Formats: sequence, C-alpha cells, structure tokens
Amino acid sequence: MEIKLSPSILSADFANLARDIKIATDAGAEYVHVDVMDGHFVPNITIGAPVVKSLRKATDKVLDVHLMISDPDQYLDDFIKAGSDIITVHYESNGDTLEQLKKIRAAGVKAACVIKPKTPAEALFPLLPYCDMVLIMTVEPGFGGQGFIPECMDKIKAVRAEIQKHGYQCELEIDGGAKLNNTADIVAAGADVIVAGSAVFGGDIADNVKKFHEVFEEG
Ligand code: DX5
Ligand code: ZN
Repeated sequence: MEIKLSPSILSADFANLARDIKIATDAGAEYVHVDVMDGHFVPNITIGAPVVKSLRKATDKVLDVHLMISDPDQYLDDFIKAGSDIITVHYESNGDTLEQLKKIRAAGVKAACVIKPKTPAEALFPLLPYCDMVLIMTVEPGFGGQGFIPECMDKIKAVRAEIQKHGYQCELEIDGGAKLNNTADIVAAGADVIVAGSAVFGGDIADNVKKFHEVFEEG
C-alpha cells in the first residue's frame, strides 16, 4: 500500500504559504492539507475558499480540504469552485452528510467524511460507499501541535477492516498528533494518508518530509 503525506498548512507560515507548500511538495509530499475553521464548529478561525482559490494557482498537488465548519451546505459550492481536489465534511456538522458527499462527488471532486475522536467508527460505515477517503481525527479538531489520542488506534483498525471487508476504494487518513516516532504504528493500524502539521512545518520542512517517507518505506 502506498502511504501518502498530507502536510497541514495550519503550522506553515501564513505569510508565505506558497513558499512553504513548494518546499514540502518538492520534497515529496503528495497532498496539501488545508484546515478550514469557522470559529463555531471549532474554537479557532483560519481561512476560507478565497485562500484555496489562490493556493490552486500556487500548486498542482492535491488540495485536501478539511472543513471544520458548522454549515457545509452553505459553503460547499465555494470550495468546489475554488479548485479543491478532496473535500472532507464532518459527520458532526449540520445537514445531511450523505447528501453532502453526493454533491461533492457529482461536482467531480473527491468526497470524504471525518469523525471526531468521540464519534464511534461505526458512524462512518454506511457512508463508506460514498467516500473516496475517510478521515479519523486523532486529536480534538481546532489546533495544531496536540498529542495523538492513543484510543484512536483501534478506530483506525476498525475502519480499515470495514474497508477491506467490502473492498471499498477509499483512502484512510488520520489527522492530529502524527510524529516521526508514532507514524509507523499509525500506518500499521491501517492509515494510508498521514496528515502532519507541526511535525512537518516545525524546523526543516524538506528534511521532515523526507523523514516521514523514510518511516513509510520502513513500515
Ligand atoms: C486540527 C487540524 C489538523 C492539525 C494537525 O484541528 O485538523 O490538521 O493541523 O496538526 P498536528 O499535526 O500538529 O497535530
Ligand atoms: Zn485537518
């Protein structure tokens, strides 16, 4: 299984996003993880669709857009038009998650669903046929630099088992607290897309990206 790295720009320099993204993708990062927060679904505010639109011009890599917003229905069109490659909606957000996933796919964008740490893995199961990717939060969403919640490991295994059982074409991403020293275990549990913010953009970005890929290859 090919493992991919999706650096979270939440920990990048917001005044130099294009530069930091280029360093990470030139070093081999496959995706670019964009954390959209509305100050309501989570207690933090980041960026919206206009920034995704600008990033679209700055990179050809996969823009992996994680919507931490209360009302996806109100903004999905904006993120589709902005050039997102993957749009991830929270199971816990308002509206009908299944309809949101269908709308994203119908627009030719990859659809993904995400659950917070306290939401059971089983909540995702009926949605898996409609997902190109699922995301398991391994910290409470809202901030970078938090510690990985160990109880989430079993959830990764459960979702991987369900994907395998049915043969779904669905990537399994994790988000939060991934570091060089726990990523081998996370991959062994079944994740194939690793989001990492502080562990990529803290320090030497290119070197960090390369070290993550070394861990992927060893595992
Ligand atoms: C948290 C965000 C994450 C965050 C991860 O709400 O969804 O993408 O940036 O940051 P690290 O890797 O530092 O835990
Ligand atoms: Zn995220």
